Amino acid sequence: MIRLDAVDVTLGDRKVLERITFHVEPGETKVILGGSGSGKTTLLRLILGLHKPDRGSVRIEDEDITRLSEQALPRIRRKMAMVFQSAALFDSLPVRENVGYRLWEQGALSDDDIERRVRQSLQFVGLEDAIDNMPADLSGGMRKRVGIARALASGARVILYDEPTAGLDPINAYAIGHLLLQLKAKGVTQVVVTHDLDLAFRIADRVVLLHKGQVMFQGTPQELAGRRDPEIRGFLDPSTLSTEERDTYAGRHSD
Ligand SMILES: Nc1ncnc2c1ncn2[C@@H]1O[C@H](COP(=O)(O)OP(=O)(O)OP(=O)(O)O)[C@@H](O)[C@H]1O
Ligand SMILES: [Mg+2]
Repeated sequence: MIRLDAVDVTLGDRKVLERITFHVEPGETKVILGGSGSGKTTLLRLILGLHKPDRGSVRIEDEDITRLSEQALPRIRRKMAMVFQSAALFDSLPVRENVGYRLWEQGALSDDDIERRVRQSLQFVGLEDAIDNMPADLSGGMRKRVGIARALASGARVILYDEPTAGLDPINAYAIGHLLLQLKAKGVTQVVVTHDLDLAFRIADRVVLLHKGQVMFQGTPQELAGRRDPEIRGFLDPSTLSTEERDTYAGRHSD
């Protein structure tokens, strides 16, 4: 489904990702963990074809997208939907348009079909009643759910999430986790970037842990929890680190 093979990405004069190799099976929920600046968002952008790697390949359904022209990429991007950290809602548009705009833009469905799809998606995230609301009237948790409804409405079978629970209280974060589990049950393939270890252990089939642009671990959540290497323990339980080590993780002493 998604397959990265020995990918390096340089941004500015900095190597941000190095020799990244992993794959996401159809229907799998893959969680990407890692400290700030470890390259998680860059990895999602790479999968969407928004960064060109220096070397290596990025395959989406067996097609190497690093070889595609800018004109050919929209066809690949339409297979995927991205839920941005900020939810990226248009403040001047009501929820209905925020969820359905991609469908109106594509022009492939009738207005009635779009309305139905928008309502179904909002119902799925528990926000059908908010269809006429403006984003400013919504809480942070509701905005995230509108972002998820938008991804659903697009019909994409692959959803990429950047920090879907960041900034949410535990109950809203739990509700988002529940939605992601429901989408997994529907067979949606998901790549979830998060700092939220509770979420990771709850939803992941497999986990990739990034550290300074490299894969430090990949495997199941159970394997991750069982690892005893100090670096991995430090990530899972920062109380085991010295102050200096914590600073390094936090990216305060880069390199
Ligand atoms: N356009 C860019 N030009 C130069 N450097 C960049 C660019 N975008 C990101 N970086 C650098 O790449 C590194 C990885 O950034 P990225 O946003 O992928 O990290 P992240 O793991 O998502 O962090 P966070 O958890 O804080 O969101 C950072 O050091 C960042 O400063
Ligand atoms: Mg990020």
